[in-house]
Amino acid sequence: MRAIEIKKNIYWVGAIDWELSEFHGYLTQRGSSYNAYLIIDEKIVLVDTVKSHITDEMISRIKTIIDPSKIDIIISNHTEMDHSGSIPEIMKYSPNATVICSPNGEKGLKKHFDTSSWEFKVVNIGDKINIGKRDLSFILMQMVHWPDSMATYCCQDKLLMPNDIFGQHIASYERFVDEKHFDIVMEEAKKYFANILLPYSKQSLSAVTKIEKLDIDMIAPSHGLIWRGSDVEKILKAYDKWDNNITENKAVIVYDTMWGTTKKMAMSLYKAFEEKNINVEIKNLRKTHISDIMRDVLDAKYICVGSPTLNNTMMPTVAAFLYYLKGLRPQNRIAIAFGSYGWGGQSLDEIKQIFEFLKYQILDTIKFEYIPSQDDLDKIEKELKNKLG
Ligand code: FEO
Repeated sequence: MRAIEIKKNIYWVGAIDWELSEFHGYLTQRGSSYNAYLIIDEKIVLVDTVKSHITDEMISRIKTIIDPSKIDIIISNHTEMDHSGSIPEIMKYSPNATVICSPNGEKGLKKHFDTSSWEFKVVNIGDKINIGKRDLSFILMQMVHWPDSMATYCCQDKLLMPNDIFGQHIASYERFVDEKHFDIVMEEAKKYFANILLPYSKQSLSAVTKIEKLDIDMIAPSHGLIWRGSDVEKILKAYDKWDNNITENKAVIVYDTMWGTTKKMAMSLYKAFEEKNINVEIKNLRKTHISDIMRDVLDAKYICVGSPTLNNTMMPTVAAFLYYLKGLRPQNRIAIAFGSYGWGGQSLDEIKQIFEFLKYQILDTIKFEYIPSQDDLDKIEKELKNKLG
């Protein structure tokens, strides 16, 4: 196992999770990596660790550079166990190492592990430590996306190690974005933001504003590939758009169907958007995972959700999507609820309730009993076209 030098005497020593297929409900079809960084200076510093089941991979990469017992400082930017899970093992090698973390990081680590023998150094915003030729400073990023989250910045190397923010779930031999297909990395970065950081857009914006004031030529996140050179500006620009909730003239139609009526209604909506030159995508919840749909919702101005009524309620797939949407809470959308029914028709009110909770502008609520004729479908299309102006 190799360590990869990303800056002079700074090494990637993480682990690659080729088999990771989901992350608490978020599909990770491309796997992931947990990125740890080893800084060789007068003090030996390890920035973050990896999930505990692949600790050995990280240790073997560290051993190609130094004996792990020489580690003086472990920086824990984030308590979540995909990054802190191997700290106990490193502490066995290097029991006198100091663990540096935010105030909430100390609280969190003490609630995850037996830390009775650990020496902590708690840092606050702007704190700086000297490790020899380098100074490391810390940017506290509360709720990006846990209370403990922070970034470590090495000013001499113009290197930011911000943990989750700017990450992507990609398992890869390559370490840098410019070694990989850019569009794939950006697609995964967008999915990561939509599924992890979206509810904390304000906090992320505040963190990015602080980060933009730094002199940075490399951003090394804790998942996926490292941004360097001109790619740094590209990911900062993308975050500027996502943090500020800038949407495009685009619609996402999400639905499930029983006997095909709600699907036909979805197609009528599709035609109306198409006729109005609005970029539109249809997502059948039986075919596309909610975490993939959220990537498309992230920059869509319109969101349409359709469900037939089943057992006096909406279909479970639609309920799961709407509850996921409610938690991630993208703001300021224009919404349409639609669906078919035989009797009852309660699904529409339930969809509307979630839209109202999210304070969306409800452009239309379209309900249809049993099977629509072509004239009925044409009418749905025409009426929506009129409402779209
Ligand atoms: Fe990658 Fe919030 O852990």
